[in-house]
Amino acid sequence: MASIRQLDPIVASRIAAGEVVERPSSVLRELLDNAIDANATKITVYVEDGGIKNLTVIDNGSGMSADDLELACSSHATSKVRTLEDLFNLKTLGFRGEALSSIAACSRLTINSNGNRITVDNGIQGKVVPGSIESGTSVTMEGLFDNIPARKLFLKRPQSELAECRKTFIEKALGFEDIEFILIADGELKCHFEKTDKTGRAIQVMSLDRSFAGAQPIKMSYEGDNLSLFAVSSDPATYKRDRTQIKILVNNRIIDSFQFVQAITNAYSAALPGGAFPFFYLFIDDNPSLVDFNIHPTKRECKLRNQSQIYGAITSMIRKALISKTYDTDERTVPQTLQFEPESPAPSPAHEAQTPKPYAEQTGEPRPSYGQSRRTTEAKPFDPSWFENAKAILERGKTQTEPLRPAVEVSTTKVIPEYRYVGQVFDTFLMVELDEKLMFIDQHALHERILFDEIKALKDVQRLIVPYQFEVERSVDDYLQENSVLYSDFGIELTRKEPLLWEMASMPAACRKNEDKIVSFIQTQTGDIETMQKDLFAIIACHSAIKAGDRLDPVTANELVRKCFRLDRMVCPHGRDFTFSISKEELYRQVGRLV
Ligand SMILES: Nc1ncnc2c1ncn2[C@@H]1O[C@H](COP(=O)(O)OP(=O)(O)O)[C@@H](O)[C@H]1O
Ligand SMILES: [Mg+2]
Repeated sequence: MASIRQLDPIVASRIAAGEVVERPSSVLRELLDNAIDANATKITVYVEDGGIKNLTVIDNGSGMSADDLELACSSHATSKVRTLEDLFNLKTLGFRGEALSSIAACSRLTINSNGNRITVDNGIQGKVVPGSIESGTSVTMEGLFDNIPARKLFLKRPQSELAECRKTFIEKALGFEDIEFILIADGELKCHFEKTDKTGRAIQVMSLDRSFAGAQPIKMSYEGDNLSLFAVSSDPATYKRDRTQIKILVNNRIIDSFQFVQAITNAYSAALPGGAFPFFYLFIDDNPSLVDFNIHPTKRECKLRNQSQIYGAITSMIRKALISKTYDTDERTVPQTLQFEPESPAPSPAHEAQTPKPYAEQTGEPRPSYGQSRRTTEAKPFDPSWFENAKAILERGKTQTEPLRPAVEVSTTKVIPEYRYVGQVFDTFLMVELDEKLMFIDQHALHERILFDEIKALKDVQRLIVPYQFEVERSVDDYLQENSVLYSDFGIELTRKEPLLWEMASMPAACRKNEDKIVSFIQTQTGDIETMQKDLFAIIACHSAIKAGDRLDPVTANELVRKCFRLDRMVCPHGRDFTFSISKEELYRQVGRLV
């Protein structure tokens, strides 16, 4: 057996670099963090070929001395953290002292700062020499992964890498409104954010999305112990079909937080039609001692010691802003608890901000009708997409899409017991009396299972008017070249347009409006076919199913119950038992009555 040896320092540094540096956008994130930590007020980014060829960040911040320049690219070299205590009370974006050394390990890095210059070429450091920038810093990375072909394979096409860089750039700019940000790609100005205030920056960023045009931004805030929240959102008439415009920043850093996104969408559910999501930028200012970003190299995740306090604060802030307001076309008024800001820099007269006005008057544009007459916060929203999906399946044969195979009823031979549908409780469970027991059925899990079985049997296919193009990584590209036929078995027609670029021309009809979910599923699959297919259908079913909290009319509920009794086993596509029964005997015993 081979004996243990210490790794060559260059090999070791490349391994470590893999954690921080994944693609040009991860380099950009680190360089922007450094410029921000150096108190820059203006940051300019130049990108060529999506950053694969080169990427430069120039800032007018404090810069570094010649001595610091010499140290900056060694690992664990930082000016930001000295003691363990500092680590638990961070005020800077950087703290690991690993970014520059990691980038320098897998590219050619040149830093110009305060009159000096140093170059580190794939881990080999040169001498400090006179440089070209008098004050501030310019950092250039060239030839990312040129010496690590295996990593280079994972890069996408320059266009997509540029899109990732742009996303990172925008997310950083969102957290630091008092800095001017400029992005130039292949000689072309792509984004320019002037200095402004928090609301102004949020609006600058939201306005990059075309569907925000004509929207009325809303501000809301919350103050609590150790915590303050501030949010800018769209008015309820402006919304997205996905969650891409819900952004959460903790202490100016964008994070991925499933829980907080849930808190936002739940609190909004009464104000928006089903399947719609707001533009919502949430800025959480939390006591740094309660926040730990040191759990993931890319710092997209953090541990928050007051997570549940924040969750509650988000919910109550949004509810308060939306409370008891109706959003019907005829009598919707601007909630008085909300303040409106003009979309353009032109200030609106102060009195206008407080005068309640109909929405239509605010924007001068007709408001979309949600297909329902009146909706208040008490009535649960009616989700048109699940209804459409459910109807398409329940009324099979009458749909416009044509089944590839004759429809098969699930377990048609099964004898259905005598039962009586009693009603819906908590907008979540269907209650059924049968034989000598009372049964509760989880409506979401049941519908999910029904869709799962029916989609599998029906194979209704919908052709996309505009085929959906998407990119994949090398491993998925290889997988799809071998296995794309298996997708076509399920109505998903995939064609390879060029290396790493695929196109989806059709998909199961039940996935209508869920194209992006299907595509992101395809983009991550390289595993065994059976699991792939099972997961795919579970995903489709889960997204189209009636949710917990949807109030059902008795006809729909009865239909669901009828189908429930036709199942062989009452388990959801993930295998979870979704019913609970209590016997008549037990019920009697609980109240001390003899059966
Ligand atoms: N743009 C910059 N301006 C001034 N100093 C910088 C800049 N970039 C890096 N530095 C210095 O180099 C050090 C190392 O940077 P880095 O490897 O990113 O680690 P970290 O940011 O975690 O400290 C920083 O602590 C800082 O002192
Ligand atoms: Mg750093």
